[in-house]
Amino acid sequence: MRLHVADHPLITHKLTVLRDKSTPSPVFRQLTEELMTLLAYEATRNVRVAPVEIETPVTTTTGVKISDPRPLVVPILRAGLGMLEGMTKLVPTAEVGFLGMARDEETFEPVTYAERLPDDLSDRQCFVLDPMLATGGSLGAAIEFLFQRGAQDVTAVCLLGSPEGVNAIQKQVDGRDVTLVLGALDERLNEKGYIVPGLGDAGDRLYGTV
Ligand code: URA
Repeated sequence: MRLHVADHPLITHKLTVLRDKSTPSPVFRQLTEELMTLLAYEATRNVRVAPVEIETPVTTTTGVKISDPRPLVVPILRAGLGMLEGMTKLVPTAEVGFLGMARDEETFEPVTYAERLPDDLSDRQCFVLDPMLATGGSLGAAIEFLFQRGAQDVTAVCLLGSPEGVNAIQKQVDGRDVTLVLGALDERLNEKGYIVPGLGDAGDRLYGTV
């Protein structure tokens, strides 16, 4: 697994405002989108492209275009939805699929409660969006789901990650082609499973459910 933790003052600045508990929902949503656009630049570093001939007003030249099949962007419901616009702004031709993951209250295992994805993901580059990598349970299950469907490689983008979550994903992916892009790697998880220092519950803060 490749791990990339952002190192840019603009990202750290925006994350600082996002972490602040006095930041209201509309600003939180706007910043989440902006941060995703900045992280998308790194996340798409290995997006596949094919050569294409074009004519400029002056001459013909060879450039590149994003290859077929198109990349698939998969926000994990519900908080991942807050990152979608930021990603599609940069990659407007990407296809979008949806995955809803929840925790089974008896087994504590992540279960898929909603799924809107192409049946066959063979040869697809997939980009999973989930703002908080805490225990790694739901993100790990989402990555597994995409590989089961035939995905070629998966890049997961999270605003914040915990060391526990990074280790869990690392163990789970076991040699498969996975890249993890984080806005920041925080200190730890607390006893309630929140990332510390973190930003609280990303879904609640995005959608004002506080
Ligand atoms: N999910 C969140 O929204 N926040 C955390 O800190 C951990 C998981």
